[in-house]
Amino acid sequence: MENKKDTLILAIESSCDETAASVVKNGRTVLSNIISSQIDLHKLYGGVVPEIASRKHIEKINQVIQEALDAAGVTLDDLDAVGVTYGPGLVGALLVGVAEAKAISFAKDLPLVGVHHIEGHISANYIENLDLEPPFLCLVVSGGHTHLVIVKDYGEFQILGRTRDDAAGEAFDKVARAIGLGYPGGPKIDRLSKEGDPYAIDFPKAKVDEAPYDFSFSGVKSAVLNHLNKCRMQGLPIKEADIAASFQRSVVEVLTEHAIAAAKDYHINKLAIAGGVASNSTLRAAMEKACRENQIQFYHPSPVFCTDNAAMIGVAAYYEYLKGTRHGWDLNAVPNLKLGER
Ligand code: KG4
Ligand code: ZN
Repeated sequence: MENKKDTLILAIESSCDETAASVVKNGRTVLSNIISSQIDLHKLYGGVVPEIASRKHIEKINQVIQEALDAAGVTLDDLDAVGVTYGPGLVGALLVGVAEAKAISFAKDLPLVGVHHIEGHISANYIENLDLEPPFLCLVVSGGHTHLVIVKDYGEFQILGRTRDDAAGEAFDKVARAIGLGYPGGPKIDRLSKEGDPYAIDFPKAKVDEAPYDFSFSGVKSAVLNHLNKCRMQGLPIKEADIAASFQRSVVEVLTEHAIAAAKDYHINKLAIAGGVASNSTLRAAMEKACRENQIQFYHPSPVFCTDNAAMIGVAAYYEYLKGTRHGWDLNAVPNLKLGER
């Protein structure tokens, strides 16, 4: 039995290739977190196929929501609101979650709260760090986004830097594909790197002139491709583990250096990481060390809350709900939704 004063939110996430639902109590307690991954399906094609993703979401979503309610021990009648990711992401995939959320909130007369996917990723940090409150700095590194943001308040963001080309996760996925590791590349590079020498090859660390907090990962990706071509042309052995570890070092160093520089420049002593790449073991270790050396408190979600999930959407929805954010029946999927827009 839940306390009557508790606020229970059902959250739905379907922006990419995970169909996910969660019940979150009072913004920080995750009662259930169900994730149905389509990875096995998409890896046959080397990446996410949008049309297949939408179809799979439709097949899975009702079952995933029912599992989330059952695991939390609640029914739709116990809920206070429905939260849903409405952007950014794949439009057909987002639409499935948005339509489902609208149907439930209409049928049960519940407030509907649309959530920005990246706000969700950032909010994943609140789940296991009960002391964490804004303001803090957050490095968001996912498959589609690389942002350095000041979280000024719940749902209030100041973007200091972003990628000029590939997102960090995208670079991991492309390099993994080039060295034959398959999709999704991030976890595979993470694992293979442990067998390689991170100093074997000196890949470039891109800096963007006059934008100290911006990122660029297309240069390091091209450098990996050039290295592979050179090895092939000269008949040299291709050492995949060394390439993976050296590439990863280059990316991790840039991410860590920029995040620490921003924390110092803006005098912020709390630094969080978020998004799929935030589950990378080398990045976590490097950030932990750099934060310790600079007297910065380091926050990170568990890996399961770094990659796409609905619990993080439930947390973000809770704080938006408290602020009075409500969406109408005209809520639509917004594939290029900007952070901070409502
Ligand atoms: O946040 P996420 O699940 O989805 C997006 O919103 O994009 O991030 C997925 C990305 C993929 O590019 C994946 O390769 C990467 O996160 N990723 C990792 C790791 N686990 C997932 N990258 C590096 N190391 C990992 N351990
Ligand atoms: Zn994501």
